[in-house]
Amino acid sequence: MYAEVAPSETAASALTGRKGVVISGGPSSVYDPGSPSIDAALLASGIPVLGICYGQQLIAHLLGGVVQKGVRGEYGFSQLDVTSADTILRGVEGRQQVWMSHRDLVAQPPAGFEALARTDTCAVAAMGSAARRLYGVQFHPEVAHTPCGPVILSNFVFDVCGCQRDWDPGGQVFAIEEQIRAVAGRRNAFFFVSGGVDSTVAYTLCLRALGPERVHGTYVDTGLMREGETEFVRANFAALGAKAFAVEDARERFLSSLAGCTDPEQKRLVIGEKFVKVQERILESEHYLDGHWILGQGTIYPDTIESGGSAKADLIKTHHNRVAGIQKLIDEGRILEPLSSFYKDEVRAIGRQLGLAPDLLDRHPFPGPGLAIRCLCTETGGEPERVEEGWIVPVRSVGVQGDSRTYRPVLALEEFPSSEEAAAQLINCRADVNRIVVAVGACAPLAELRVAPAYLASARLDRLRRADAIVRKLSQESGFDRSIWQFPVVLIPLGAGARPDSIVLRPIDSVDGMTARAVRMPDDLLAKMARELMQVEGVAGVFYDLTNKPPATIEWE
Ligand code: XMP
Repeated sequence: MYAEVAPSETAASALTGRKGVVISGGPSSVYDPGSPSIDAALLASGIPVLGICYGQQLIAHLLGGVVQKGVRGEYGFSQLDVTSADTILRGVEGRQQVWMSHRDLVAQPPAGFEALARTDTCAVAAMGSAARRLYGVQFHPEVAHTPCGPVILSNFVFDVCGCQRDWDPGGQVFAIEEQIRAVAGRRNAFFFVSGGVDSTVAYTLCLRALGPERVHGTYVDTGLMREGETEFVRANFAALGAKAFAVEDARERFLSSLAGCTDPEQKRLVIGEKFVKVQERILESEHYLDGHWILGQGTIYPDTIESGGSAKADLIKTHHNRVAGIQKLIDEGRILEPLSSFYKDEVRAIGRQLGLAPDLLDRHPFPGPGLAIRCLCTETGGEPERVEEGWIVPVRSVGVQGDSRTYRPVLALEEFPSSEEAAAQLINCRADVNRIVVAVGACAPLAELRVAPAYLASARLDRLRRADAIVRKLSQESGFDRSIWQFPVVLIPLGAGARPDSIVLRPIDSVDGMTARAVRMPDDLLAKMARELMQVEGVAGVFYDLTNKPPATIEWE
C-alpha cells in the first residue's frame, strides 16, 4: 500500500485509479473567502472519500448539506454516541471518547447521507453514504486522544477502499538496511546525534547496515541538558556497539555566549549560532566535507511534509540555523535519511525491533535549546500585585492567542480552582495574563515573594537540573509520566532572600505539541514532589501550571 499527500485542489482526473482519498482537517471555514476546496468531481467519481473535520464540512457544503458557522468552537475531549455502528464505525459501539477541534459544524448532512454518530454539541459527528462510499467525521480519528480512531481509519482503508494489509514497520528493517547500503555506496556516514529517539534509531540502522567502523557520531554537550543526559547518551551508544562516537564538551562556550541574555528569542538565536560554530569546527577537523562522507539524519516523515514554512515550523521557531557545510551536503544529495517515510510510532516500532531500550524509545520530547528556555531570566524586578482572582506575578511567559504569540505576566492562585472548566474560565476572563498557576509549596506567603533580576547563571541551571531530575524520578516511579506527553519543569526568578527562584510544574497531554491540555497529577504524588522540591537549594516556592494550549504555549518561553 502506498500513500501520497496531494494539494486539496488536485483535479479529480489526476486521482483516477486511487483506492481512496482522505480530505484532511484545517482551521478554515467553508464560508471564508479563499478557503481550501476540492474538485467537486471527486465526490462523483466513485473513489471512496473520507473527510475529517473541515473535510467533512467541505463534503457537506459541496453536496448541498448545511454547514453552520460556529462562534467559539469546541476543542478537546468529547463523548461520541454512535447511532449506526456500521461501515466506517463497525466495531465502534456505544459511547466513545473522541478529540474535537472545530469552529463550524455540519447541521444537516446532504441528501442521501445518514448521520452515524453525535456528541452533545454536534448532531452530525459522523455521516456517510454507503452507496456513494463517501464519509465524514467531525472529530479527529488520527490523534491518540481518539482511542477508536485506528478502528475507524482501518474500516475506511480496508473495508471501504479495499486496500491490502501489507505494511509492518518492524518488518522493514532489512529493506531499510539495504537502502542505506545502496545510498551510501562506498562512503561512510556521520551523524550529529541529539540523544532523542529519531537520531538514535537512524544511527542504529546505519551501524547495522554499514558496520561500526563506517559510522561516526558526535553529541554536543551544550551544558543546557538535563541531569545525567550526557552519561545516558554515552551509555546508550556504547550499548549499541558504536565505536566512533564522540562527545563534544561545549558547555563553557555555550554558557559564556548566553551570559546576560534574558530574551527568549535572543537565547534561541545565540544557541543556534553557537551550534553552527561547533558543527562547522567538527566538519572541518574530521574532514567530513570530503567525498568519503555522507551526512546521516534522523528526519522522519512529518518533518518532511512540514518543512517549507508550515504552521508547525513557524510555531516552534527556528533554533538551528543551517550550517553552510551541511547545506552544501544537502544540495549535493550527500544525505542519508533512513526514517524519512516513517511516523514517530513506526520509528518506535523499528526501534523495538532493533532491541533499543524502552526508556530511550518512550522518552518525552525535549526542546533543542534545552533548559535555556526553561530557565526564565529578567533584567527587572517587581512585586506580585493583588487582584480579585489572585496575584499577578510579573514573570512574563509566552502564550498563543489567535495566530500570534504574546508575552505576558502570570496569574497565581493560592488554591486549585474547583474544576478544569473553572480554571479555563479564569484564564479566559483576564486578557492581561497568559497563564494561571497554583502555589503548591512556598517558604513565605505569595505577598512576600519578589521577582529579582536573574540570568542564565550556572547556579540557576544546576538548581533547575536538580528540580527537573526530582520531578522526572517521581513521575517515572509513580507511572505518571506514561499518562502525559511532556513534563516541562521551569525555573522562575520569584523568591525571597537566600531562596531566589521558584519551580513551575507543567505536565501536559498532547498529540503533536500543537495543542495541549494541562494535566492534574494525583494529590499524593504532588504533595511528595512539592516537599522534595522545597528542599532544593535556593527554591522559594513550587507552582502548578493549569493552562491549556491555547491560550498558553507548552514551554514558558
Ligand atoms: P510550544 O512551547 O511552542 O512547544 O507550545 C511545542 C513543542 O515544541 C517544543 N519546543 C521546541 N523545540 N526548539 C525545539 O526543538 C525550540 O525552540 C522549541 N520551543 C518549543 C516544546 O518542547 C513542545 O514539545
